[in-house]
Amino acid sequence: MNIILLGPPGAGKGTQARVLVERDGMVQLSTGDMLRAAVAAGTEVGKRAKAVMDAGNLVTDEIVIGIISDRLDEPDVKGGAIFDGFPRTLAQADALGDLLAAKGMSLDKVVEMRCDDEELVTRVIGRFTCSGCGEGYHDTFKPPKVEGECDKCDANGFVRRPDDNEDAMRNRLFVYYKETSPLIGYYYAKDNLAMVDGTAAIDEVTAQIAQALKN
Ligand code: AP5
Ligand code: MG
Repeated sequence: MNIILLGPPGAGKGTQARVLVERDGMVQLSTGDMLRAAVAAGTEVGKRAKAVMDAGNLVTDEIVIGIISDRLDEPDVKGGAIFDGFPRTLAQADALGDLLAAKGMSLDKVVEMRCDDEELVTRVIGRFTCSGCGEGYHDTFKPPKVEGECDKCDANGFVRRPDDNEDAMRNRLFVYYKETSPLIGYYYAKDNLAMVDGTAAIDEVTAQIAQALKN
């Protein structure tokens, strides 16, 4: 099964994708994570993307479509892909449809994760991630069980994203409404869309996604 998790910054796309990876053995395809890896590695793509990402704007369609196209050629995606943060524009959505058709794959469901803007800002500003395994946490909503230690691995360092500040986050929300929210209508028209309440507790959102994927 191949699905898209569609939602604004902080909606919980990454959090829920990690549950699906652990529970169902699917593969998480997060263009944000791939771009951050390119920035950390200092590649040409990373150099082009860094300032754009830090300001909360979108990198070019050409870059992200190229990244996804390459990633879809790897064998692990055959077990099911979760698109997290891609597509984000109508051009990316069209390109994804063409790529999947060319590779003999299909898109089974698009899950829209709906959330309240002020909650999203609170979530993103409180977010941090394990530098060892990437497990996501939140100062208030999901602190580690033992302060300063990851629940999932032996590492005890955490990182915060440079774009997780209020200015960049407000711009990310603006960009979401302008460029990405039209995809809700796009997939509704293709009869692929399901909506979940992204403001519910993490486990409840997981249950709603499971239900949506059964229908
Ligand atoms: P990307 O990395 O995709 O960031 P984003 O879309 O802004 O989304 P986030 O990762 O911030 O949020 P999330 O929905 O994953 O939430 P999370 O689960 O972490 O993109 C970053 C940048 O890369 C973009 O701005 C752009 O520059 C570039 N980019 C990426 N893809 C691109 C593309 N396709 N085209 C062009 N440019 C692209 O949860 C957030 C926090 O809330 C966590 O702390 C979590 O613990 C907590 N939380 C989660 N769920 C709940 C819940 N139900 N209740 C309470 N707390 C919760
Ligand atoms: Mg994410």
